[in-house]
Amino acid sequence: MTDFEKLPQYFPKVAEAVQINKRGENYLEMEATVKSFGKKFQVRMKTQIIPGKGFISDNDSYQFGTSGHEEFLLSPHAEGTLIDYTYQVNIHKPWLRLIATPLIRWYSMKYWEKAVIDELKKILEKNKTTLYNVVSSDGFIAREDGSEDFISENVWPNTLNLYLQYGAIIMGRKTHDTIQSYDKELVEPFEKLTIKKIVVTNNPDFKPKDGYTVVHSPQEAIALAPDALVSSGPTLNNFLLKNHLVKKIIHHEVPVDIGEGIKPFDIEGITLVPIENVQNIEGVTVREYRVL
Ligand SMILES: NC(=O)c1ccc[n+]([C@@H]2O[C@H](COP(=O)([O-])OP(=O)(O)OC[C@H]3O[C@@H](n4cnc5c(N)ncnc54)[C@H](OP(=O)(O)O)[C@@H]3O)[C@@H](O)[C@H]2O)c1
Repeated sequence: MTDFEKLPQYFPKVAEAVQINKRGENYLEMEATVKSFGKKFQVRMKTQIIPGKGFISDNDSYQFGTSGHEEFLLSPHAEGTLIDYTYQVNIHKPWLRLIATPLIRWYSMKYWEKAVIDELKKILEKNKTTLYNVVSSDGFIAREDGSEDFISENVWPNTLNLYLQYGAIIMGRKTHDTIQSYDKELVEPFEKLTIKKIVVTNNPDFKPKDGYTVVHSPQEAIALAPDALVSSGPTLNNFLLKNHLVKKIIHHEVPVDIGEGIKPFDIEGITLVPIENVQNIEGVTVREYRVL
């Protein structure tokens, strides 16, 4: 939202052009051509960016005869991200106040919600991942020592098929190392898949084999592959969940209890809604959840 020059690209129904005339640290002065009530008009904006949150702006719609104070602020919320948007409008001409007040209050704000907030939700949803794990029937992805011996090799083709459907897989460096420790008969078909294989690590010197892409943050991974499948352990899974970067979780459950082990993620603070009527695959029970 604070990449103002791109607003016409993201929100074409309300923004036609944005020209930045002055740029300071977290401060901008801009001239925007906006669309409203079926007309285009110029707005001069003096805008303070609040890093990580949004912006506060004083706007002068001099052709329309209004000025306004606009605040767009995001904050974390138990069910996602809270968008707090206010626009206080000052209508300069008294006669216009009569006609424009109800229009601005209702029509204009409804239109804005559709053209901006709904589009923003779509953009945010697109840049969210799906977490995938194979789990024991008591909910573990590995034993305490990291061993996955309870997962039969017969379920590996299911995993590869799912990877193919997504076209990109993101994994933490430790999951990368686990896969490298598998037998050649399992690693080879994985490495032959024509999908992006992205490894997240903090280590600037990490050098995997050809065919893997290294990134140094989960956000960088998602920028490379929005809508990717993440197949990883709790470290990366928890980071993505806590930062609201997950829209769905898929578990392939094998019919074995292991008693104790590593959980796929910490459930605390996360609301999962089971998706009904998902199709099972041979050898596993498929469980899918929407993340709120
Ligand atoms: N059953 C299954 O479906 C399944 C699937 C995957 C993994 N597993 C199991 O999960 C276990 C591994 O899980 P894990 O949680 O320890 O490891 P992980 O999530 O696979 O990888 C953790 C590593 O990824 C990198 N990383 C994670 N978050 C990062 C961030 N925000 N920024 C930068 N780098 C980040 C770090 O690499 P550096 O240390 O290099 O910086 C970190 O040490 C293994 O036992 C594996 O067998 C099971």
